[in-house]
Amino acid sequence: EKVYRLVLLPGDGIGPEVVQAGRRLIEAVAGALGHEVIFEEHAIGGAAIEAFGEPLPEGTLKAAREADAVLLGAVGGPKWDRLGGDRRPEAGLLGIRKALGVYANLRPVRAYTPLLGASPLRREKVEGVDLLIVRELTGGLYFGPKRREPIDGGTRVVDELVYTTAEIERIVRLGFDAARKAGKALTSVDKANVLESSRHWREVVERVATDYPDVAFGHMLVDNCAMQLVRSPNQFGVIVTENMFGDILSDEAAVLTGSIGMLPSASLGDGPGLYEPVHGSAPDIAGQGLANPLGTMLSVGLMYRFSLNEPRADQAIVRAVDRVLEEGYRTADLAGPGDRISRTEEITEAVLERLELE
Ligand code: NAD
Ligand code: IPM
Ligand code: MN
Repeated sequence: EKVYRLVLLPGDGIGPEVVQAGRRLIEAVAGALGHEVIFEEHAIGGAAIEAFGEPLPEGTLKAAREADAVLLGAVGGPKWDRLGGDRRPEAGLLGIRKALGVYANLRPVRAYTPLLGASPLRREKVEGVDLLIVRELTGGLYFGPKRREPIDGGTRVVDELVYTTAEIERIVRLGFDAARKAGKALTSVDKANVLESSRHWREVVERVATDYPDVAFGHMLVDNCAMQLVRSPNQFGVIVTENMFGDILSDEAAVLTGSIGMLPSASLGDGPGLYEPVHGSAPDIAGQGLANPLGTMLSVGLMYRFSLNEPRADQAIVRAVDRVLEEGYRTADLAGPGDRISRTEEITEAVLERLELE
């Protein structure tokens, strides 16, 4: 019998609420597939600042490194917003991504048919959307040198956007591989009309493309991409892009599905994969049982696909989520006028009941 060691990092705000849903789903899948799971729960973000005085305690990182996979909720909140950059909850998240070397963040965006009415965009625009944002996650603007220095009675502030050829090449290759596998086109998104880093990114894409003659690809400037994503999202298959561009475009793309609460992600490198919903700690609804757990549950699906070699579980989870939505279950973020609203636990339960795994 297989035994998996999974590390749960609930974090802050709605993080613990959605990770609890993820845990229950893993228990259900494990029961159905007949494997054992050893859970270890650790502190990260604001919760870790409170308990250990730092956002990424050594014990958390050690456990994550030794795990088969890591499931994270969200970090951050108003309580810690005045801390310095390297002491904030978000530093814990950036730190664990960097330490695990998970340079490839996959953010699939799918328009669920029952939710077509939940998007503010017209249904015929979003119908059929099934795209993948491949976000570079351990470099770029997030990880370049940062500093503040006094100048003329004010402050000079610097955030550098740094990449090496090798860092660009590995994420671009992953983007091409994903596009090939999906039988879709690749769009490389950059700001090559302004940024030197983007001009090199383009050169790398052009060179790597010669290894993928079967994959259609193009370049798009990020401002245009932001516009095209809501104007005609069906033109996109796989998008590959720099860290911060991918961050912003994925929240924008979430609107195609009806809610940021629907989006899962997988962060992959050479070690254990890190799985998290795309949304944050949602302080405005935390602790009330209102959080949409589906992005986290779909992230569990990605965990089974990419880290535990059980794509069947991913398929079953996606099917169960589809059915729950078809039957009209809606958390508040998805509800329209007249819809009955489900709490986090109720919709979680509904997914578990509809999970079909032999
Ligand atoms: P957010 O994603 O937390 O919330 C944005 C809006 O979406 C809010 O109205 C929120 O209620 C709603 N929302 C988000 N997730 C939801 C869900 N699962 N169900 C229902 N509604 C949901 O973004 P924000 O408000 O800009 O950030 C809040 C905090 O979260 C900040 O401290 C930020 O740094 C942090 N954050 C963390 C992560 C992460 O840990 N991966 C990601 C994004 C933001
Ligand atoms: C995300 C979040 C994080 C990011 C923050 C909380 C550091 O917005 O996972 O999308 O910007 O990567
Ligand atoms: Mn984000």
